Amino acid sequence: MQKLYLFDTTLRDGEQVPGCQLNTIEKIELAKALEAMKVDIIECGFPISSPGDFNSIVEISKVIKESVICALTRAVEKDIDVAADALHYAKRKRIHTGIGTSDMHIAHKFRSNKEDILQRAIACVKYAKKYTDDIEFYAEDAGRTDNEYLSKVIDAVIKAGATVVNIPDTTGYCTPYEYGEKIKYLINNVANIDKAIISTHCHNDLGMATANTIAGIINGARQAEVTINGIGERAGNSALEEVVMAIKSRKDIGVYTDIDTKQILKTSRLVSTLMRMPVQPNKAIVGRNAFAHSSGIHQDGVLKNRESYEIIDPSDVGVNESLITLTARSGRAALNHHFKRLSIELNHEELDSAYDKFLKLADCKKEINDNDLLEIAGVTKTKMNQRIRLKFLQVVCGKSSVPMATVKLIIDGEICCATSSGNGPVDATFNAIKALVHRKVILQEFLVQAITRGSDDVGKVHVQIENKGDVFYGYSANTDIITASAEALVNAISKII
Ligand code: KIV
Ligand code: ZN
Repeated sequence: MQKLYLFDTTLRDGEQVPGCQLNTIEKIELAKALEAMKVDIIECGFPISSPGDFNSIVEISKVIKESVICALTRAVEKDIDVAADALHYAKRKRIHTGIGTSDMHIAHKFRSNKEDILQRAIACVKYAKKYTDDIEFYAEDAGRTDNEYLSKVIDAVIKAGATVVNIPDTTGYCTPYEYGEKIKYLINNVANIDKAIISTHCHNDLGMATANTIAGIINGARQAEVTINGIGERAGNSALEEVVMAIKSRKDIGVYTDIDTKQILKTSRLVSTLMRMPVQPNKAIVGRNAFAHSSGIHQDGVLKNRESYEIIDPSDVGVNESLITLTARSGRAALNHHFKRLSIELNHEELDSAYDKFLKLADCKKEINDNDLLEIAGVTKTKMNQRIRLKFLQVVCGKSSVPMATVKLIIDGEICCATSSGNGPVDATFNAIKALVHRKVILQEFLVQAITRGSDDVGKVHVQIENKGDVFYGYSANTDIITASAEALVNAISKII
């Protein structure tokens, strides 16, 4: 079996999604989670694009020791200089540079010709080589690039020093057969291809990103570019959890990865919470229904033999229902023990705050499961250091009554109170909150999801608001969905103030 290198681009291609932007502290937290999961290469950003991206790469480079830290550039010398600067502290660094190679990109994006693009490709690799030996070249829109020209470019950039050649299906246009054949063509037609690793980078516009990635691997690619939860531009990228579990479950693919699969669910939750991007319930591997059997026939089959209807052992991806039950009588130590079991490290203050939430939840929910714990930890981290907090909420609603909400907020240590009506309990609550914060807040999106099962379950709420043209996101989870809604709005507003 040969090793498949896992290149995670959640912090670059994933973070390009509107609304998924992270601050430096959040990026460091995610980079550490990716390193703990044993991702080989972490692409952390596009440093020339913003001071925020630059700074995040600097800070991540200081703390990550095992994974290679990668920065993206265009085929432009200034970009490469800035990337090299940002990677200064990285123990292991990679520059990812490249240019569009399809007729569409050459004619319309660059208004150029094939020969000029070939020379620019060679030049950028040679230039980047002065900063590090580890150079990855991407042929943007390789999915729609003719194979003959693509081979010429790939041959030339390997001669110039590229050690990894990335073949992106930028627009998610290829079918698995076509993408696999493209990789095979390069292996058979690029004379020096054995001097570089071929990488897949597949987008999901037609829902085929993971299938294309696997087709690329079957045909010889030995690096896969992926994101957690498949997050990314438009319909997203190939999902790390899908590629890794396909390889683990299907030995006939013939490769292995070093990924610690038991960390998959936890990392998926972290990304969903930090990026305020819910995971669809039926999402392969990490959706809340991924291992739920609802029909009687399936339940019976699974009870007799799990493998009748499950091809993956849920514990392999970190779906572990706890054996020691947590109840309202459990102490901080028991709670912390369970967080540690799930590899969640909370500092003293975070544990105190998580414990408060745990007690409230344990009071109104029979059974606290791992999903609840992941949620409590995520919400705790989201809410720490908020300048505005929800202190009190009382709602009156029901058939034939005017919904009214009374809200108390703590704003910079001061308690303030308002009562408002609305066309429903959430609307009344939001009106009261808006009255207290004296900001023009336009609600753009409001999403409520149940986490697992049962009417006593925790509901997750994501909101998106607009203030003076800027967009802010808020998140919370609570068994009381009106409280979760209020907290999510407060979480979003606290980012304006
Ligand atoms: O999709 C793409 O082509 C990319 C490249 C910049 C690697 O993300
Ligand atoms: Zn991409």
